[in-house]
Formats: sequence, C-alpha cells, structure tokens
Amino acid sequence: MTSPNESAQRGSWSSRTGFILAASGSAIGLGNIWRFPYVVGEGGGAAFVLIYLGFVFLIGAAVMLGELALGRHTQRNPVGAFKATAPGTLWKLVGLTGVVTGVAILSFYGVIAGWTVGYFFKTVTGSFSQAITASESQEIFGGFVANPAASVGLLFLFLGVTAVIVWRGVSGGIERVSKVLMPALLALLVLLAIRSVTLSGAGAGLAFYLAPDFSKISAQTFPAALGQAFFSLSLGMGAMITYGSYVSKKVNLVSAVGIICFLDTAIALLAGLIIFPALFHVGLSPSSGVGLVFQVLPTLFAELPAGQLFGAAFFLLLAIAALTSTISLLEVPVSYVIDEWGWSRGKAVVATATVTFLIGVPSALASGAVSFLSDLPGAAPDFLSLMSIIFGNYSLTIGSLGLAIFVGYRWGVEAAAAEFQSEGVPAVFKPIWAFLIRFLAPVGIVGILVYIIATQNYF
Ligand code: PFF
Repeated sequence: MTSPNESAQRGSWSSRTGFILAASGSAIGLGNIWRFPYVVGEGGGAAFVLIYLGFVFLIGAAVMLGELALGRHTQRNPVGAFKATAPGTLWKLVGLTGVVTGVAILSFYGVIAGWTVGYFFKTVTGSFSQAITASESQEIFGGFVANPAASVGLLFLFLGVTAVIVWRGVSGGIERVSKVLMPALLALLVLLAIRSVTLSGAGAGLAFYLAPDFSKISAQTFPAALGQAFFSLSLGMGAMITYGSYVSKKVNLVSAVGIICFLDTAIALLAGLIIFPALFHVGLSPSSGVGLVFQVLPTLFAELPAGQLFGAAFFLLLAIAALTSTISLLEVPVSYVIDEWGWSRGKAVVATATVTFLIGVPSALASGAVSFLSDLPGAAPDFLSLMSIIFGNYSLTIGSLGLAIFVGYRWGVEAAAAEFQSEGVPAVFKPIWAFLIRFLAPVGIVGILVYIIATQNYF
C-alpha cells in the first residue's frame, strides 16, 4: 500500500473532468490530425475507416478500460503495476517494453510536433498568405523538413517544453494545460471542416473518405488500422496505466472510457473531413505519406478569408494537442524512474528527456537532411516512418496483446471488474467486457500478427 505521503508525491488529478481531459489530451494529438488522414490515404479510404472504427470500439475501448483499472488498482507506473499484481514473474517485461516504447514514440513524435511549431511561425510570418499551388506547397514542405538545424532545433524546443510541464507534476502541469485549449481545437476543426466540404471538387474527396470500396483492402489494411487505433487511443505502452494511477476511486471508469474514445474518434473523423475534400480540391495524392497534412492545409488556408489567422490558429492548436500527448509519453518513463529507481521528479525528467532527444535526432534528419536516413536500404522507408511503424504500430499492438492476456487471465476479470463496476454500470457490461478482453482482443491481434508474418508484409 502507498502511504499518504507517498501518494501525495506521486500526485493525482484534482477532479473527474481534469482526468478525462488529460486522458483525452493524451489520446487526441498528432495521431488524429496528422497520422489518421495519411494512414487512411495510404489504406484506401472509407473501407479502412470502417475497419478502424470497429477496432476502436471493440478492441481499443476494452483494452483502455483494462489499463485504467490496473493503474488505479495498483497506483503504480506500468512496471510497478505488473509487479504488484504478479510479483516475481516476467509480466513486468510487458510494462518495461511500454516504457521503452514511450521513449521511442516520443523521439519521432517530437519531430513532427516540432514541424507544427515551425509551420505556425511560417504562417504567422506570411509564407502562406498568397494562394499557392499544390506543388509549391510540396516544395516548401520538402525544403523545410530537409533543413537539419530547423528540425533538430524544433525537436529540442518541443521536448524542452514537454519536460517543463511534466516536471511541474500531474495536476499543476498536465491537467491545467489540457483543460484550457482542447475545446478551442474542436471549434476550429469544425469551422475548417465546413469550409473544406464546401470547396469545389470536395465531392471526390468525400467519396474517397466516406464511400467504402472494399477492393481497396489489402494485407496491410488490418495491421495498419489496428495499430492506428492503439496509437490514437494511447494504448499498449502503459500511458493509460500511468494516468489511471492518478485517478480517484470515485470516478466511473466505464463512462470515462466511453467519453475518451468518443472524443478521440470524433476529432480524427473531423480531421479527415478537412483533409480529403481539400486534397482532391488541390489535386494532391491521398498517399502522400507523412507530409500530407503539411502539404494540403496551407493551400486551403490560402483560399480562406482571414486564412493567415486560421492557419496560425490551426498550427498553434495542433502543437498544443501534440503537447498534451507528448506530456503523457514522457510521463510514462518518468513515473517509472521515480517509482522504481527512487529518483526525484526533476532528475527523472531531465534524464529521460535527454535520452529521448538523442534518439530523436536521426528521425529529425530523416526527411532529406541525411540521405541514408531518408531512404533506408531494402523495403524499409525513411528512419522516421520506420520508427512509426515499429513502435507506433507493432510495439503498441504487442503491448496491448500482453495487457489483454494479463488482465483477462492473470490478474483476472473479477479483480478488474471490482475496480470499475461502480454505480451506474449495468450488470451486463461485465460479461461483454470479459468476452472482448479475453477473446476478441487477443484473437484479433494474434490473427493479424500471424497474417503479417505469413504474408511478410511488414511495412
Ligand atoms: N495518442 C497520441 C496521438 O494520437 O497523437 C499519441 C500517443 C500518446 C500514443 C501516448 C501513445 C501514447 F502512449
């Protein structure tokens, strides 16, 4: 058991809303606005979206509840949570893989987050105040990301800001930031979506995005959609175990999961409504990869009245959405080092942020600055995309599998249900959740992994 003094040092959310906003802040980020549109674009559009939605609500939501319940029950970081519920076993390795994955994801995520800051400055200083064509926009993007000083400098800046907030702790730093700007992001996205769907040529984009063509489904669709679901919901690396460990026993976890999954999905779907019509309007290809959002949106802003203002607001809010996610990514290794190694928060933050920065440098140089990193040998893509596939897809998928098996069979459905079965949760919920976490999630994930190995379609 934690002593009152110990739990005061760990910190906790000051309210239910604070927790829901912080967890939604973790879930909502570049995954929704930057990654979702480009994986949908590469995955063939609407058919991919449908599969994605199935994964979010059938597998992702069940895993999220398992993570939050385990975190709240043990009041520990991911490694400590497994140690407390399965002492002396190797289960702690699932938690440890999560801690490593957190650092790895943050290392490339911080690069993209840095780009959003760069694009904010570009917009403010008028780079996109005049109408630009798609190819001009591609050129500007290409030149910007190939500049090593800008990419590495912005990565450093972004990780620095993240570190300062994480240093300030759970309710003073993380919760306060999350509470303020999430609603503003939502409002702005709605406005942009309205503008985008009314552009000429929007119809083709909407058809690509909303009318499923199942012939576009390939071997890659399922792992990519499942990986995106885990990535977007911040699952499979213990972020939700960590955030769950700061939640008061009074909070209804089931309704919290419903709200977080709903908000996360709504923002991703909205981002698609902005990107795809605009994309077809300017004639770019949906499979433009990691640069998609950065190439499409400036052309849209250039066509809007007060476009410069919209553009600046958009990139600023996107940077903030990214910040509430990088905070949760850094909080996982930090909470581990504090709980398990007994370090002070300050020392833990400086050490983990420094290591993350060093690992992030190759990703920052992988979009043109260093040609080897930008075009790896063989079938592998550039270094940043490779990190995103290995850690953003596979590591989170395997971590979620470990969590589902652990919660479903080792810690047990009864113990988990005792943590979430509070007032207002109907009795039928437990057997449904038990089915999802014990059968559907593991069978679905293993099926997909076997399929990938059999078809050798790793990227
Ligand atoms: N969910 C975040 C996003 O969609 O941008 C990314 C992320 C944060 C993934 C935290 C994993 C994580 F633990």
